[in-house]
Amino acid sequence: MELEHGIAVVTGGSRGIGLAVATELARGGAKVALLARDGVRAMEAAGGLPGGGHLGCSCDVADTAAVGEAVRHVTGELGSPTILVNNAGITRDTILLRMKDETWDEVIDVNLKGAFNMARAVIRGMLKRRDGVILNISSVVGLVGNPGQVNYAASKAGILGLTKSLAREVAFRGIRCNAIAPGYIETEMTAALTESQTQTLLTRIPLGRLGVPDDVASLARFLAGPAARYITGQVVVVDGGMTM
Ligand code: NAI
Repeated sequence: MELEHGIAVVTGGSRGIGLAVATELARGGAKVALLARDGVRAMEAAGGLPGGGHLGCSCDVADTAAVGEAVRHVTGELGSPTILVNNAGITRDTILLRMKDETWDEVIDVNLKGAFNMARAVIRGMLKRRDGVILNISSVVGLVGNPGQVNYAASKAGILGLTKSLAREVAFRGIRCNAIAPGYIETEMTAALTESQTQTLLTRIPLGRLGVPDDVASLARFLAGPAARYITGQVVVVDGGMTM
């Protein structure tokens, strides 16, 4: 198993894409810590991952102190993380004209500052071990924009700048940092789409279906593993061809 001895932290890992990624990393042999706002849900989800010895932990990624505490807890229980997947994310959609400061701040704080908080909390350990992979879950919306999502698109575009800059900062120690930009993936986040919205979307997706969390998870496992050893600073789009 290619991720044996890996210690992975997946934020927002108790459901959706995060849970699918955590499951794939566990199948690859990694010990996984799931971080989510709801600690009980995180622990339950961790208990259901393949293999044993995984961990669930409550953490709001936007809260710098809570992130430090969670990473210390994970390090104490499993060891210093070698894989970080910044997956936690939220949407608070509305047009710019109606967007309140709080709506902007909340999305930037979770989606962008959360990734910064997590990366900063694990990077020292990775540098020391000369071993580490960081995967940031962006979105095609960060590449092409979307009306009603200026906050979300800005946070996801910000993730790309963070990814490339960090990749350049830590490459000298063999640490890799890449971003994944999913298109429309069927999760609770996209459950609000109406049937007619889904049909319209499908006309724009050459592969003819919405994505599923496993479509993202298989890529995450590849990027986290040794087969991707010469890949860093990249943005890999998983969208059925929608934005090619
Ligand atoms: P989801 O809503 O099912 O899951 C998001 C997870 O993040 C949940 O477990 C939630 O509890 C957690 N979370 C939210 N705020 C948090 C915080 N402050 N601290 C810790 N955890 C927090 O969403 P989904 O679809 O699984 O999305 C996962 C990631 O993929 C997000 O970053 C999202 O922006 C991104 N994405 C999703 C797409 C989709 O079509 N579903 C498309 C492109 C990107």
